[in-house]
Amino acid sequence: MIASHLLAYFFTELNHSQVQRIDKYLYHMRLSDETLQEISNRFRKDMEKGLGADTNPTASVKMLPTFVRSTPDGTEEGNFLALDLGGTNFRVLRVKVADNGSKKVEMENQIYAIPEDLMRGSGVQLFDHIAECLANFMDQLEIKDQKLPLGFTFSFPCSQTKLDEGWSQGRFEIQYSKVETNYSPRSWVAESVLVTWTKGFKSSGVEGRDVVGLLREAIRRRGDFEIDVVAVVNDTVGTMMTCGYDDHNCEIGLIVGTGSNACYMEEMKNVELVDGDEGRMCINMEWGAFGDSGCLDDFRTEFDAAVDENSLNPGKQRFEKMISGMYLGEIVRNILIDFTKRGLLFRGRISERLKTRGIFETKFLSQIESDRLALLQVRSILQHLGLESTCDDSIIVKEVCTVIARRAAQLCGAGMAAVVDKIRENRGLDSLKITVGVDGTLYKLHPHFSTVMRETVKQLSPKCEVTFLQSEDGSGKGAALITAVACRIREAGQH
Ligand code: BGC
Repeated sequence: MIASHLLAYFFTELNHSQVQRIDKYLYHMRLSDETLQEISNRFRKDMEKGLGADTNPTASVKMLPTFVRSTPDGTEEGNFLALDLGGTNFRVLRVKVADNGSKKVEMENQIYAIPEDLMRGSGVQLFDHIAECLANFMDQLEIKDQKLPLGFTFSFPCSQTKLDEGWSQGRFEIQYSKVETNYSPRSWVAESVLVTWTKGFKSSGVEGRDVVGLLREAIRRRGDFEIDVVAVVNDTVGTMMTCGYDDHNCEIGLIVGTGSNACYMEEMKNVELVDGDEGRMCINMEWGAFGDSGCLDDFRTEFDAAVDENSLNPGKQRFEKMISGMYLGEIVRNILIDFTKRGLLFRGRISERLKTRGIFETKFLSQIESDRLALLQVRSILQHLGLESTCDDSIIVKEVCTVIARRAAQLCGAGMAAVVDKIRENRGLDSLKITVGVDGTLYKLHPHFSTVMRETVKQLSPKCEVTFLQSEDGSGKGAALITAVACRIREAGQH
């Protein structure tokens, strides 16, 4: 065990039995190769379950069809607005997409806070706030008199309903329906019904409703500007699109940020929820819900269970709760409290601050492992949490952070291995070369996450050569790109 070696070698103060006890408690969080293979196999089964028409209703991995049928061809152009809700920040963007051979995308954006009471208040208040931020942004750019097309990156599980029209052009095709709404009688945007809130959101009256309708209603209530909502996109899809713009091998999108999820291009013949067998469609897997059926219970620990029980959505998004930024710090905090109670840390004394939910931020995990002077860093973080720590305490806390982040990266790798292998088998190939577009604060900030995830994918799916391409602002840009294509297609369809 790494811990034992490190601790025993450098610090004689930590006696052998203490090291053994710590290792015993961390043991269940160190995943063996066999365990990872098993998790990957179970994940693959759940993917099949979500795709099947008969099995989907009871599947936890919902495999939501997006009606995005291919990736951008680079001929899109125009001026677009985009909203990005569901990550660390809420943002409004103006995106200029140029078709001058340079495939240039220019962006201006403004970050707005969403106060916690709005995240958990009424849906009307939330959408009024979104409309207000949009108005403020348009005021700043002096474009309030223009009716610009808008793409909405809404990073929550949405069931997008079909759709009676479909157009295709170039490499990119989106299916749209003519949706009748009160305010815009013929709007070319698919209905996007929120299945369930995830992460820190819990606004009332939104689950089961079409989010485009709610946004339009909020804009109409203000009455000071108009907007043409053209597309609603999940952040994974936006990320795949953005990376696909530069790399045509990019057929998977992955987010490891506040939440975690992935999308990929599936063969239409396997997408039983949508008619038609030709070509491919992007599937928003909503992989965060893997394990909600109980199939991960033999690998979850009491700390995972505690984090789940105290969350806004107990029993839901169990895989996400073992992987993503919203939860890793909380898992560490629970372990630290437990170790202290057992007398293994902080001379058995728990500070009041450490008892506060959410106080151990996931960014600490990144900071602790980034710094060459890691132990000093740990000490100052612990001090900030009101904890008097010894050098041994710092070593133990660092080890806990390492184990939890490593497990998250490996779990992510196990899910990704199942996806790439499925794509390879779908295409009847002995080997597959594929690119994954990735975004998210945890992936970007943690110094070892990407390496561990890559190694796991390589080990579990040796027949696939997988490149991970970090997206530059995938969710915002992706929404604008999809909007751009949708507009182009719509215009072609109107002639
Ligand atoms: C949501 C997904 C989203 C992911 C990453 C999850 O909580 O359910 O729709 O893609 O977070 O933002």
